[in-house]
Amino acid sequence: MALLLPFILWAVAAVAQSNDSVFDFPEFPPAGTPDPNATLGNSAAPLPYNVYEDPGLAQARIHYDTGSFGPTIELVHAYYNYWPIGVGVASDGSVFTTFPRGNETYTLATFTSTTTEAPWPNQEWNTPPAFANASNPGYSIVTDKLLFVQSVVVDGLDRVWALDTGRPEVNGSYLLAAVPGGPKLVGFYLNGTNFATYTFPASVVYADSSINDVRFDLRGEGYAYITDSSPNRPGLVVVNLATGQSWRHLDGHQSVTPDNGFVPVYDGVPFYLYPVTAPYAVNNFGLYAVDGIALSPDGQYLYFAPLASRQFWRIPTSYLKVEPGPDHPAAYLLAKQAVEHLGESGSNADGMETDSSGYIYAGAPEHNAVTRYNPATGIVEPFIRDPAIQWPDTLSVATLQSGGSYVYFTSNQLWLGPNYQNGTDLRTRPWAMFRAPIEAQKATQLA
Ligand SMILES: *[C@@H]1O[C@H](CO)[C@@H](O)[C@H](O)[C@H]1NC(C)=O
Ligand SMILES: *[C@@H]1O[C@H](CO)[C@@H](O)[C@H](O)[C@H]1NC(C)=O
Ligand SMILES: *[C@@H]1O[C@H](CO)[C@@H](O)[C@H](O)[C@H]1NC(C)=O
Ligand SMILES: *[C@@H]1O[C@H](CO)[C@@H](O)[C@H](O)[C@H]1NC(C)=O
Ligand SMILES: *[C@@H]1O[C@H](CO)[C@@H](O)[C@H](O)[C@H]1NC(C)=O
Ligand SMILES: *[C@@H]1O[C@H](CO)[C@@H](O)[C@H](O)[C@H]1NC(C)=O
Ligand SMILES: *[C@@H]1O[C@H](CO)[C@@H](O)[C@H](O)[C@H]1NC(C)=O
Repeated sequence: MALLLPFILWAVAAVAQSNDSVFDFPEFPPAGTPDPNATLGNSAAPLPYNVYEDPGLAQARIHYDTGSFGPTIELVHAYYNYWPIGVGVASDGSVFTTFPRGNETYTLATFTSTTTEAPWPNQEWNTPPAFANASNPGYSIVTDKLLFVQSVVVDGLDRVWALDTGRPEVNGSYLLAAVPGGPKLVGFYLNGTNFATYTFPASVVYADSSINDVRFDLRGEGYAYITDSSPNRPGLVVVNLATGQSWRHLDGHQSVTPDNGFVPVYDGVPFYLYPVTAPYAVNNFGLYAVDGIALSPDGQYLYFAPLASRQFWRIPTSYLKVEPGPDHPAAYLLAKQAVEHLGESGSNADGMETDSSGYIYAGAPEHNAVTRYNPATGIVEPFIRDPAIQWPDTLSVATLQSGGSYVYFTSNQLWLGPNYQNGTDLRTRPWAMFRAPIEAQKATQLA
C-alpha cells in the first residue's frame, strides 16, 4: 500500500488542475440521494445481555443494527377480524381495504374505527349468490357482485376501483377456477355508486389467472394495467377504459416470471415454501409471478416485479397500449423486446407505488422495510425500516385534504400464514396498517 501513495497524491493533484481527467467524476452521491445519517440504521452501545466483570468489555460500545431508519411509522389500523391484503386511501382520509375470501362475509371494506371494518360499499355488493359453480365443479361463477377482491385502488379522481380475481378460496387453500364474468374491474364513486365494470374474455383472463394488482392512467382514453401473477401463465393485462377492450402482453417473459431458485430471508430466517398441497415437499419460494406494479407519474413507464424474485423491471407503456392482433402483428414481440431490466432491488417486493416526484416505492419484506427507486439516479434508496414491518403487502400514496401526503401499507405476516407453513398458522393478530410521511404528493395520472 505504502508504495502506491506517491501515485495517489499525483492523481489528486492532476484532478485539481484539469476537468479533462478520467478522475473527474460527476457529483456523487447524486443529487437527491438521502443523507446517510437520515437512513443509517446503526448505533453503538454496551451489549445489553451478559454482565462483564472486565471493565473494558463492560464499557465497550459495540456497533449494532437498530433495525430502523427513516420517518417513524404510524399505526393507522389494527385488524382483529379478517386478514388484510390491499389498501387504497382517498383524499378525505377514507381507507379501503381488501380481504382474500374463503368463508369471509365480505372482501372489500372500509374502516369504521381504528380497530373495526365494515363491508363497502355495502353487504349486498359483497354477497354473490354462490362461490362454487354447481354445474361446473372446481369453477366459480359469473356475477356482478364481488367474489375475491385482491386489490383496491383510489384513482386520481378519488374513485375507488376493486380488482376481483373471480377465484374465491374454498376449504382452506383451494382456489376455484374463474369463469368469464367472475374476474372484473369494478369502479365506484366515493359515495359507493358503481359507475363502471369491466370484465374480460376467457382469452385475456384465463380460468387459472390470478389478477393481482392494478394501476390507472387517466390521460386520454385511459388505460388500466393489471398484473396476472398466475404461476402457470404470468403476464400483464391492459384495459382500454374508453372501449372496454382488453389484451395481454409479456406472457411468460422473464420479467413476469419467478426466479425458481429464489430463497428470500424474512426476519433473518431463510424461507422455503411448505405448501399445504400434496406431496408436502419443501420448495423454493418459486411459485409467485409478477405482482407489484407502479406507473411513473408521467404515465410513460410501467414498473413491476415478480414476487418470487429480487429483479426489477419496467416497460414504456407505449408498447403496452398497442393491442396485438391482425392490425398490429408485431406488437406482442415488440413489447417483449422493449422491457428494461433495472437489475436487483435488494429484496423481493409485493406492493409498489408511485408519487408525484417520480419515486417508485416498493415493499421490501426481506428487510422489514419500504425502499424507493429513484429513476433520476437509478438507485434503490432506503426509505423506512422498522422491525414491526412484517411483510409490507400493498402500498397506497394519498394526499389528504386535511394536509400531508403519506404512503400507507398493510403489514400482514404473509409468509407465516398456513398456506406457506405447511398448514400451520404462525401469524399473530392483530395485523397492521401503517403509514409514513413523504415529501411529494399522490401522482394523479390525469395530465
Ligand atoms: C471543473 O468543472 C466544475 C463544474 O463545471 C467547475 O466548477 C470547476 O471550476 C472546474 N475545475 C477546473 C479546474 O477547471
Ligand atoms: C453524520 O453522523 C456522524 C456521526 O454521528 C457525524 O459525525 C456527522 O457530522 C454527521 N453528518 C451530517 C451531515 O450530519
Ligand atoms: C358455471 O360455469 C359454466 C361454464 O363455465 C358457466 O357457463 C355458467 O354461467 C356458470 N354458472 C354460474 C352460476 O355462474
Ligand atoms: C369443500 O369440502 C367439503 C367437505 O370435504 C366438500 O363437500 C365440498 O364439495 C368442498 N367444496 C368445494 C367447492 O370443493
Ligand atoms: C373460516 O375458515 C377458517 C379456515 O378454514 C376457519 O378457521 C374459520 O373458523 C372459518 N370461519 C367460519 C365463520 O366458518
Ligand atoms: C355519487 O357521486 C356521483 C359522482 O360525484 C354523483 O354523480 C351521484 O349523483 C352520487 N350519487 C348519490 C346517490 O349521491
Ligand atoms: C407437512 O404436513 C404434512 C401433513 O401434516 C406432513 O406429513 C409433512 O411431514 C409436513 N412436511 C414438512 C416439511 O413439515
